[in-house]
Amino acid sequence: MTRHLLSAADLDAATATMILDTAQEMANLAGHQVKKLPTLRGRTVVNLFYEDSTRTRISFEAAAKRLSADVINFSAKGSSVSKGESLKDTALTLQAMGADAVVVRHPAAGAPHRLAGWVDGSVLNAGDGTHEHPTQALLDAYTMRARLGRVAGLHVVIVGDVLHSRVARSNVLLLSTLGAKVTLVGPPTLLPVDIATALVPGISVSYDLDAVLPDADVVMMLRVQRERMTDSFFPSAREYARRYGLDGPRMRRLPEHALVMHPGPMNRGMEIAPEVADSARSTIVEQVANGVSVRMAVLYLLLGGKPS
Ligand code: NCD
Repeated sequence: MTRHLLSAADLDAATATMILDTAQEMANLAGHQVKKLPTLRGRTVVNLFYEDSTRTRISFEAAAKRLSADVINFSAKGSSVSKGESLKDTALTLQAMGADAVVVRHPAAGAPHRLAGWVDGSVLNAGDGTHEHPTQALLDAYTMRARLGRVAGLHVVIVGDVLHSRVARSNVLLLSTLGAKVTLVGPPTLLPVDIATALVPGISVSYDLDAVLPDADVVMMLRVQRERMTDSFFPSAREYARRYGLDGPRMRRLPEHALVMHPGPMNRGMEIAPEVADSARSTIVEQVANGVSVRMAVLYLLLGGKPS
């Protein structure tokens, strides 16, 4: 593997499969009484979060700790960032402290790439603006494989606010690499065709959720990212839910085996109804658990091989 994980596009099928296989081994460890491996003892992992996060930050922290690394959590609130310190100066500070890996979430697309040029350690992109979130795509692929036995050949329907979704972008890239067929669905204002086709040429786009559901193996609902919206992209929350929300009757249009996924946090009642989120088809809680195994695998593969 390369030194950093910045984009899902950096992963070829063999590397992605190796990560998923390693994550499976890490998951087996979760069943043991002692959940720790000594692999990253003496190594330092810094969680550098400039944007809010619940799942991703805790997940990376749990993953690093299960590999026995020392973990430093840095959040922009309450740090010198609020005094105007630049990303570069923060990076130099981390560098001086000897960080072996920096897990970064930042509102600006491309921030992890810049950071990778300033530190010697590995940089892991934990979400950069509307750009990418590669470990989310890996944990989603892992969840599909665990539940359905494979990723290649699956029809994955990604629904909602594609325009603002780094989760969608990384998933489109990784799922295509792994041989799944992806259809993007959403209102035209949140799903510009040129954006979709620029990612993966020939990707399917639909504005009619009901039409694609009967043919889906997986339906992945995206959060409507109001905090990134500078415009009004749809008439009302009610109208959005009526056209693009996954409610009980719509869920029943899915084939028997089909999964419902959501990266969280959810807007219950908007893109997903509580009845659906809490149903047996929903993998939402499993996705969180799988996130720890996948991030352990990524940290292990990026750092484990290097001498301390
Ligand atoms: C996503 C994110 O932050 O990009 N959540 C996550 O990492 N679990 C999706 C979102 O915020 O909607």
